[in-house]
Amino acid sequence: MPHKIILDTDPGIDDSFAIAYAIAHPDIELIALTTIYGNVTLEQGTENALKLLSAFGGKADVAKGESGPLSIEQNHPSDYVHGKNGLGEYELPETDAKPVELSAAEYIVKAVNEAPGEITICAVGPLTNMAKALELDPSIASKVKEVVVMGGAVFHVGNITPVAEANIWNDPHAADITFAADWPLTLAPMDCTMPVIFTREDLQLLADENPKMGAPLQAMSEFYIKFYRSVAGLHGLVPHDVMALMWITAPGAFHARKGALAVATDGPAIGQTLFQAQGKTSLSTAFDGRPNHTVLVDTDVKMFRSNYFGVLCAK
Ligand code: BDR
Ligand code: CA
Repeated sequence: MPHKIILDTDPGIDDSFAIAYAIAHPDIELIALTTIYGNVTLEQGTENALKLLSAFGGKADVAKGESGPLSIEQNHPSDYVHGKNGLGEYELPETDAKPVELSAAEYIVKAVNEAPGEITICAVGPLTNMAKALELDPSIASKVKEVVVMGGAVFHVGNITPVAEANIWNDPHAADITFAADWPLTLAPMDCTMPVIFTREDLQLLADENPKMGAPLQAMSEFYIKFYRSVAGLHGLVPHDVMALMWITAPGAFHARKGALAVATDGPAIGQTLFQAQGKTSLSTAFDGRPNHTVLVDTDVKMFRSNYFGVLCAK
């Protein structure tokens, strides 16, 4: 049975690497891309989702999501990371494809209710659609197969503030609601994403072996690589969002811990992801009544790389 996946995304260069993987993987049935603001505006992200699907030869619904966070003032899109169009200024071909009528939250609720126990949601942008879906129908928590979130920096430093990672920072309230829900949730924070780097040589291999996906990915990545060079001195890019899908297809590539999660929703640490290990207690009330989730704290880089390039190059 293939993994039925809804990918909630703010495309985004690393989102594009995740979308390509979801389309290329023989054991993934990509049901839909549900879109969210974040790296780009909602409008731009939805356009990117439609164009990426068509350029990569994928067939999935696109449902347009929320255009801003639940409570905080909206942050500016991350154009300094992903370029103004979210794809490193690379222009994908136009498409006539359109989003479905349902909103992302409505789509998620409908899909989960129609196939209880079968749908995995991989959320790789701000978590506003997830919070809205839970608000619309809290019963989806017991019907979803799994929720996998790329976001947060648990023991690692953040990429927006010393403690906050972008997806959580963009809507801390929605992230806190998502982590409080009693559903089977796995978090792929920066702790597991930062060890993995795709170099220019890797991208050349992808472009040679799978030009349909690899050539656009290579072209859009130059912007992202320059960003990582300037802020972290890296010689390549970090494919953060792929982790969420890799957890589904190759869980052995990760080292995981169990614990409750909460998010700081105001003050100087706003956007920080807080983790309390299973079995521990503390004087903080933030974790009271919260379920234990799975947190990916490290990655087997060799296994990850051989899986990713194996899947894309076999296509
Ligand atoms: C996360 O933020 C976005 O910029 C990326 O697409 C990824 O989802 C990394 O912090
Ligand atoms: Ca993303």
